[in-house]
Amino acid sequence: ERRIEPGSNLRASWEALMKEARGCTRCDLYKHGTQTVFGEGPLDATIMFVGEQPGDQEDLAGRPFVGPAGQVFDEALEKAGIVRSEVYVTNAVKHFKFEQRGKKRIHSKPNAGEIEACRWWIDQERTLIRPPVTVALGATAARSILDKVVTISKVRGSPIPLAEGGECWVTVHPSFLLRIPEPERRVEERQKFVDDLKRIRDRA
Ligand code: URA
Repeated sequence: ERRIEPGSNLRASWEALMKEARGCTRCDLYKHGTQTVFGEGPLDATIMFVGEQPGDQEDLAGRPFVGPAGQVFDEALEKAGIVRSEVYVTNAVKHFKFEQRGKKRIHSKPNAGEIEACRWWIDQERTLIRPPVTVALGATAARSILDKVVTISKVRGSPIPLAEGGECWVTVHPSFLLRIPEPERRVEERQKFVDDLKRIRDRA
């Protein structure tokens, strides 16, 4: 496996990586998605947020978390006092996986093989950025970062030290918050998410 050359220019290395990712064929998802959606943000960010995979709007825009889940994410960040432009935001899987239903493209979950194939990219991003704090948004991101299957409710709320340095916090995925039908529970869960983010902000 190629690693980032020590001493090489960080920005140039990241740009080369991002450009290389555009042509990725490590799994089959590139065949259907519009484009690779790579991570974005400052390379000296102290927090790296990791989502699952781009959704419909991210696939079209080429940027992570710009659709409905992105709006929930942005709102929660703001409430927690985290400035989005100061953090690095990426996904465990960098192509949109979907099922076509009529005109709609319905999100489908990436499988273990796709998460594994795409881990190559996130490993490179993490090697370059070395964030002191990584936030796994949901189970797919947690699986990618921790290399094991975890139950969010069991690992939520306290930092998990990482072998490569830094720590990982696991919390819910913003899409989960969008899907809660009961208004009261939705408010409660959004608040819990903001509370997680505040704790994370204080670590970074
Ligand atoms: N959901 C994700 O996990 N990532 C995105 O970029 C958008 C929606």
